[in-house]
Amino acid sequence: MTDWWRYAVIYQIYVRSFADANGDGVGDLRGIASRLGYLRDLGVDAVWLTPFYPSGGADGGYDVRDYYAVDDVYGTLGDFRELIADASAHEIRVLVDLVPNHTSDEHPWFEEALERPAARDRYLFRPGRGDLPPNNWQSVFGGPAWTQVADGDWYLHLYDPKQPDLNWRHAEVRSEFENILRFWFDLGVAGIRIDCAHSLIKHPGLPDLSTEDTPPVLGTAPRANHPQGDQDEVHEIYRSWRKIADDYDEPRIFCAEAWVGSADRLAQYTRPDELHHAFHFDLVNADWDAEQFRSVISSLDEATWVLSNHDVPRHLTRFGSLERARAAALLLLALPGSVYLYQGEELGLPEVEDLPEEVLADPAWERSGHTERGRDGCRVPLPWANNGPSLGFGPAAGWLPQPSDWAGLSVQEQATAPHSTLNLYRAALRLRREAPPCELRWLDSPSGTLAFTTGERMVVVNFLPTPVELPQHGELLLSSRPLTASAHDTPVELPGDCAAWFRRP
Ligand code: GLC
Repeated sequence: MTDWWRYAVIYQIYVRSFADANGDGVGDLRGIASRLGYLRDLGVDAVWLTPFYPSGGADGGYDVRDYYAVDDVYGTLGDFRELIADASAHEIRVLVDLVPNHTSDEHPWFEEALERPAARDRYLFRPGRGDLPPNNWQSVFGGPAWTQVADGDWYLHLYDPKQPDLNWRHAEVRSEFENILRFWFDLGVAGIRIDCAHSLIKHPGLPDLSTEDTPPVLGTAPRANHPQGDQDEVHEIYRSWRKIADDYDEPRIFCAEAWVGSADRLAQYTRPDELHHAFHFDLVNADWDAEQFRSVISSLDEATWVLSNHDVPRHLTRFGSLERARAAALLLLALPGSVYLYQGEELGLPEVEDLPEEVLADPAWERSGHTERGRDGCRVPLPWANNGPSLGFGPAAGWLPQPSDWAGLSVQEQATAPHSTLNLYRAALRLRREAPPCELRWLDSPSGTLAFTTGERMVVVNFLPTPVELPQHGELLLSSRPLTASAHDTPVELPGDCAAWFRRP
């Protein structure tokens, strides 16, 4: 099916923390291969793997040294080929993560740029303003977005100094990335998640930010026309990439990580001749509130829905309880469009907020002068079993410690518990696959609740802590909390912080 991606559920694997086959404490490709049965039983259509390329190690792999290889810590290209084949045998497609905004400072292009000023055009080198950097931009991880090299020039890095930004107005940069796309597509990857898709093209003059622009914060969208990104010119790049993807049988797909100012700007990335998916991040920043959810859901048809990823605190902790996290998941999985799940949300994992300082690895921790703890709390290795040195993550302790009560949240514990969060996700994915949601229509519902139909299904969500009366409904299909039935076997109330799927009356 060429449009498999339209209603797909894609599971994000943070490779470092998913499963460790060789016992070095770090997840790897063979670990993923060993868990494909789990992913098939969960019912996802595809997985997206976070970067596993040789890297400078400054930002969890998002500083790539070599775009055509696998880092030793994660395995080999041979392991990757096997993984693609095994995944396909499990009917799971594989997406990889491409980091085109910046390379590692250990990439050969940057090393050459340091040695030979004439070779600097692939990056954004500029002279300073006296002793000051070329403009007033701050890096996302804290501190100036410019670093000075030995001969006095400065280079731009929107992220860590070890992540120099590429110059996407340079022909060789464009052609090289087209080769990289073909390399991974030829290996059989079904698609590519584009890291920082909005920021490849900056305002040509790299102007100072105005005073009303706060420094960029990871996980928030800048205003429209922000000089650091979402420039119209970026769409040329994606139109040319789309042609490459469409040349394959089956056509490959793209998903943009684009933090932009509005739903209208986001929709530009998924025009018919551009990308297939673009994360709709507004639910990542929404409170557990019916009106906020309704306005985000109404802002786009068939969007790419997401509640959590490796950059933001887990939604269970953001919303405040497991009940709300389960209700939010059922709501999300009922929406038309594609859905990205983040590993561990199907287990109801919370954010780990008390990791010891000495294990924190996110560059934000150092760059902020130890004021921002960073994103490690959502990157703790998964608990697969209720015992062992890393709860089944691998044969040894994992690279970040797991809270001791995660044994009870492990796959082993949840797989056979009928009302576990894992089984809720499995059931929702099964129903979604049987009848993909289509055409959302809102129904009237009391304040603090949402109700809508998508095809034959009716969905009711109660954002309030107290029960509400249910509207007229058909057979109960699934609910995030138990519903009490009346004498006629029909539930009449929806508990607080709960979502339920019914057949349409
Ligand atoms: C994206 C990634 C994030 C990374 C950043 C820089 O936002 O999701 O993890 O730190 O890009 O590459």
